[in-house]
Amino acid sequence: MNDFQYYSPTKFIFGAQAADSVGVTLAQMGFSRPLVVYGQGSVVRSGLLDRVEASLIQAGLEPASLGGIRPNPEVASVREGIAQARTHGADVILAVGGGSVIDAAKAIGFGVPYSGDVWDFFDRKAKPTVCVPIACVLTIPAAGSEASASCVISNDALGMKRGAGSDCFRPVVAFMDPTLTYTLPPYQTAAGLTDMMAHILERYFSGYGEVTVTDNIAIGLMKTLITHGPIALAEPENYQARANIMWTGMLAHNDLAGCGRSVVSGGRPGGWESHALEHELSALNPQITHGAGLAVVMPAWMRYVCHRDPARFARLGQDLFGLEYPTQAQGSGQNPDQALLDAALKAISALQAFFVSLGMPTSLSELGIQEQDIPRLVDGVLASKGDPFGVFMPLTGTDARAIYLSCL
Ligand code: NZQ
Ligand code: ZN
Repeated sequence: MNDFQYYSPTKFIFGAQAADSVGVTLAQMGFSRPLVVYGQGSVVRSGLLDRVEASLIQAGLEPASLGGIRPNPEVASVREGIAQARTHGADVILAVGGGSVIDAAKAIGFGVPYSGDVWDFFDRKAKPTVCVPIACVLTIPAAGSEASASCVISNDALGMKRGAGSDCFRPVVAFMDPTLTYTLPPYQTAAGLTDMMAHILERYFSGYGEVTVTDNIAIGLMKTLITHGPIALAEPENYQARANIMWTGMLAHNDLAGCGRSVVSGGRPGGWESHALEHELSALNPQITHGAGLAVVMPAWMRYVCHRDPARFARLGQDLFGLEYPTQAQGSGQNPDQALLDAALKAISALQAFFVSLGMPTSLSELGIQEQDIPRLVDGVLASKGDPFGVFMPLTGTDARAIYLSCL
C-alpha cells in the first residue's frame, strides 16, 4: 500500500425527500444567496426545480437561477454563470442535476474569484485554489461529481474537452434522493452504471500491485452495480436498486476506491487512460454520452494492455464474474503465461458483456465515429494527457491509434 491522502469533506443528505431540506440546510450552513444551476429541462418537467426553489424561499434564502446547461457542458454557459453569480452576489452555487450541471457549477464557482478567463484553468494556465462553495441535488448517479475533485468542461470553439482538479471545489453538501432517478431514461441509467464501473476500474488498474482493503472495496462496489444495475433497468422505481446505485456512484469517485493504489507516493491512483480516450470522443461530438464512450474504449484499452499484468485481469474475472483463475498444475502441458492471458481476455469479455447487457455500444461506429476522425482523436489525447500518457502501460500516439482502430 503506497502513501496517500484521503479528503472527502462533503456532507451527504441521503434518502427520499432529501431535496426538501435544501433550504433549511443551506440556511443552517450560513448561505443566503444561492445561484441555482440546472440542465435542459428534466428538473423542470419532474417538478424538482420548483420544489428546491420553494424550499430555498421558505428558508429565507434569495435564489437566482441559470438553466440550459447541456450534457458535456460548454464553457460559454460557464462564463454566463460567472457573470450572473457576480451580479447576484452568490455565496453558494447550487447545482440541481447530474455531472454536467455540477461541473458547470464548479467552474462557475472557481471562475467567480478569478480575474482572467475561466478556460485558463482547463488550459493549465491557472490552478483553482479558491471557489465559491458548491452544493448539489443529484439527479443521476454517474460522474461522481457530487463529491469529486474533478470538473470537466468542453470548449466547442477549440474542439476540446478538458478537466481541472482541486479539493477546493469538492461540494460542501450533496442531497441524494434515489427517487429522483426514477425518471432516468434507460440509456442514461446504463451509461451512468458504466461510468461508475470505469471510475473504479481506472483505479483498480492503476499499475500498483495489490492493496487488499482497497481492492476489496472496489470489488464490493462493482458487485453492487452488477447486482442492482439490471434491477434498476427492469424496475425503474425499485428504491433499493436506485439507492444502492446512487451511493455506489459517489463511493466510486470520491477517491475511497483508490487509497494506496497510486504508483507515485501521495499521487493520484491510475493513469485514467480510458477517460482520456473517451473525452476526445465527446469533445468531437458533444452528443456522445460519456459512459457510452467508455463502454467502447475501456475494453479496447484493456485488451491492448492486459499482457502487462494478465494476473491482475484474471483476478478481476475471478472476483467479479466467478471465472476460473488458472492454477499452474504440474504436467498440464499448458503454458502458464498463456493461461493467464487467456483468463485475462475472458475477464475483459465478461466485463464488456455486462456493458452490452445494459444496452451500451461496443464500437466507435455505433457512436458515429469514423476512421478519418482518429487522427484528431489521437492529437487531442496527446495534447491533453501528454506523450506518452498513461501509467499501467505508457501509451504513445501509435498505441492510441491502435486502440481506437481496434474498436472502430
Ligand atoms: O439536462 P437535463 O434535461 O437535466 O437531462 C439530463 C441529461 O440529458 C438527463 N437527466 C439527468 N437526471 C435526470 C435526467 N433525465 C431524467 N431524469 C433525471 N433524474 O441525463 C442526461 C445526462 O446528464 P449529465 O449530467 O450529462 O450526466 P452525467 O452525470 O453522466 O455527467 C456527464 C458529464 O460529467 C463528466 C463527463 O465527462 C460529462 O461531461 N464527468 C465528470 C466527472 C467529475 N466531475 O468528477 C468525472 C467523470 O469521469 C466525467 O468525466
Ligand atoms: Zn467518468
